[in-house]
Parts: sequence; structure tokens; C-alpha cells
Amino acid sequence: MSAKKSLKLGVLASGGGTNLQSLIDQCQQNNIDAEIVLVLCNNPGAGALERAEKANLPNICINHRDFADRQSFDQAVVATLKEAGVELVVLAGFMRIISEVFVDAFPNRIINIHPALLPAFPGLHVQQKAIDYGARFSGCTVHFVDTGVDTGPIIIQAVVPVLDDDTEETLAARILQQEHKIYPKAIQLIAEDRVRIEGRRVLISGDDVEEAALINPPL
Ligand code: GRF
Repeated sequence: MSAKKSLKLGVLASGGGTNLQSLIDQCQQNNIDAEIVLVLCNNPGAGALERAEKANLPNICINHRDFADRQSFDQAVVATLKEAGVELVVLAGFMRIISEVFVDAFPNRIINIHPALLPAFPGLHVQQKAIDYGARFSGCTVHFVDTGVDTGPIIIQAVVPVLDDDTEETLAARILQQEHKIYPKAIQLIAEDRVRIEGRRVLISGDDVEEAALINPPL
């Protein structure tokens, strides 16, 4: 057994859970110094629950429809995460807006992945929005969560080209491939304690910076 302390993750998902799966795989392969101590879904029958079961991970469904309001749902979620010993809350396709109750319970310890290059295209259906806008590039963003929608400090982003014949599905698939790479990387940076928040900026220690520019269409 490694003597290294591993960061205890609580992964929250609402749907299919491909990001959850990439985290399960990366943890199992010891590529990140983290372990998933709880998978929490708000939708019964979510694919993410099945993936957790298959990986023998503790999992729970807390259905938001059983609660009178957002705060009481969030209180139940927070209590469950605390009881499981969660140190970092990882939103992976969790389709609920997080209230202050939740954010205050895990200050700077909640992260989210968003399938666009924030601050462009926050919210929903953002792959289609990038296509409709005529953006030449889109991508994905891992950020800390505050009480706004997709507004917290940005940790890491990946860029992909938007192609002329893209549909929402083809662009989403291209972005998702990158999501599966940058989410584990962001978690590893936090596990290594290399991430510091200064105002809106996230500063990362000890990284080599690539200065290469991406141009689409190429020169
Ligand atoms: C991803 O595109 C993520 O960026 C967004 O929701 C989607 C979840 O996909 N927040 P999956 O459930 O991880 O496959």
C-alpha cells in the first residue's frame, strides 16, 4: 500500500457518467492520488449509478424531487458527503444548481466540468450554441464552483476545433474526449496541492507552460 494520502472524492452525477467512468479508471490505475468514496446521483436509474455499482463503489441516489426546496435537498447532500468523509466534491454532469448552503459547506472544494470554453457559453446546450455562433474553437473547462452558473475560477481548459460539418453530437463527442483527460488532471493538481486561488485566477505551481498557438483554419 502506498503511504501517500489519497484525496477523498465525492462524485455527483445526473446522467450517463462517462466522466465518472474516466475518474474510476484513473483512480483504479493509480494515475491520480485520489479515491472515490461516494458516488451520488439525483436521478434514480442514472447510468452513473450503474457504473458505480459495477466498480464496487459506495453510491447513493438522493432524488431532488423528494425535497420541498433546493436548500433542503442541498442540506441532505452535504450531510451525506460529510458522513462519507469527502474532501473534494466533483460535479460530473450534475444537472442541479448548487445553493449557498452547499458552497459554504465545502469552500473552494467543489469543482465542475463544463463543455465549453468559459466564460463563453455558460449554461445548457452549449455545443449547439458554439456552432450557431460560428466559433472556430470550443472545448471544455474545469472550474471551482461558486453560487453562480459556471462562473467560478478556472483551473484547466482544453481547446478543440469546431468543424464546418459539426453537429451538436459530433462536437460534444470531440469535447468529451478532452473532458476525460482534463478532469483527472485537475484533480491530480489539487491532490498535489499545487492549486492556489487568487481572486478570479487560479495559479498552478511547477508547470511547464506551452506557448503554442492554435489556429483554425490552419495557416
Ligand atoms: C459533460 O459534457 C459535462 O461537461 C457536462 O455534462 C456532461 C456529462 O457527461 N457538465 P457524462 O455524464 O460525464 O457522460
